[in-house]
Amino acid sequence: MVKIGNIELPDYPLFLAPMEDVTDPSFRYICKQYGVDMVYTEFVASEALIRDVKKTLKKMQVANHERPVGIQLYGHNIDAMAESAKIATEAKPDLIDINYGCPVKKIANRGAGAGMLRDIPKMIKMTEAIVKATHLPVTVKTRLGWDDDSIVIEKLAEQLQDTGIKALTIHGRTRNQLYRGTANWEIIGRVKNNPRIHIPIIGNGDIDSPQKAKEAFDKYGVDGVMIGRATYGRPYIFKEIRHFLDKGEEMPPLSLKEKVELAKNHFKKSVEYKGVPRGVYEMRRHLVSYFKGIPHFKEMRMKLVTTDETEKVLELIDSIYEQFG
Ligand SMILES: Cc1cc2nc3c(=O)[nH]c(=O)nc-3n(C[C@H](O)[C@H](O)[C@H](O)COP(=O)(O)O)c2cc1C
Repeated sequence: MVKIGNIELPDYPLFLAPMEDVTDPSFRYICKQYGVDMVYTEFVASEALIRDVKKTLKKMQVANHERPVGIQLYGHNIDAMAESAKIATEAKPDLIDINYGCPVKKIANRGAGAGMLRDIPKMIKMTEAIVKATHLPVTVKTRLGWDDDSIVIEKLAEQLQDTGIKALTIHGRTRNQLYRGTANWEIIGRVKNNPRIHIPIIGNGDIDSPQKAKEAFDKYGVDGVMIGRATYGRPYIFKEIRHFLDKGEEMPPLSLKEKVELAKNHFKKSVEYKGVPRGVYEMRRHLVSYFKGIPHFKEMRMKLVTTDETEKVLELIDSIYEQFG
């Protein structure tokens, strides 16, 4: 068992990475169906939260069926972050995660997200303030450092642990790498194997197969593995990994019929949570990715991304099985 504060996770826990515009309630619901152990909301801007922006509050809505679930916050102002941690606590997530990893210019250059890697004393103060502001476990997600000349994570992990956080997720890239190159798991492994570190270390970056997930656990010793981009069109990767970890062999691939059911379920949840037409529009790229690689799919693809009516889209998805099955 892996414990994050009072949250109990199974051995070898699998985490869905927080991703803006991706890990909304419908996607989290679907990943949960395929056995993900812990999910997070998309990141929530502390300043917007304090101003009570409706959309921001909506982003914090969590449901019982998805527990344990974390709300992720970002911002550059310590007081605003502490205040938003209090507001987020009222939304009753299981933990609060702080984003010190977002590399996007308009966020990082203002000192939020990965920008905090350029001011470690402030990062530590902010983390302390947030830990104080909530009774919930606080966790941090960050990168190795700002750039290749400032890989700070090994010492930083100890400093963050000392603030009272209950777990640390490390994306094995620097801010300047953005999403380029490959994640450096050697460094993640070094943090995990530092005898002073006793909080769970969750490794993140480039895990896109059951084999890579197993290697992360076996070779680098991490307590948990977090997966982001590989879940696009493949939320069942969590089931594939669990199967591989438990049985030592690959799960049979999903049949087209199963993919059709998955796409329909996801679509229905999206409409349920977001209504029409937003729930329909925002599903289009997911639908396309579920059926990627089917030969002669062009015409169907076009219909999937242009049909507006809920019932018609559901019929269309069913017809994929009839036409291509
Ligand atoms: C579209 C997109 C949105 C993201 N949004 C967030 C976010 O809101 N919060 C966060 O901590 N990381 C965010 N990330 C980073 C991911 O959580 C993850 O750290 C990164 O994609 C590396 O993992 P992967 O190689 O498994 O995708 C985002 C990544 C992508 C591709």
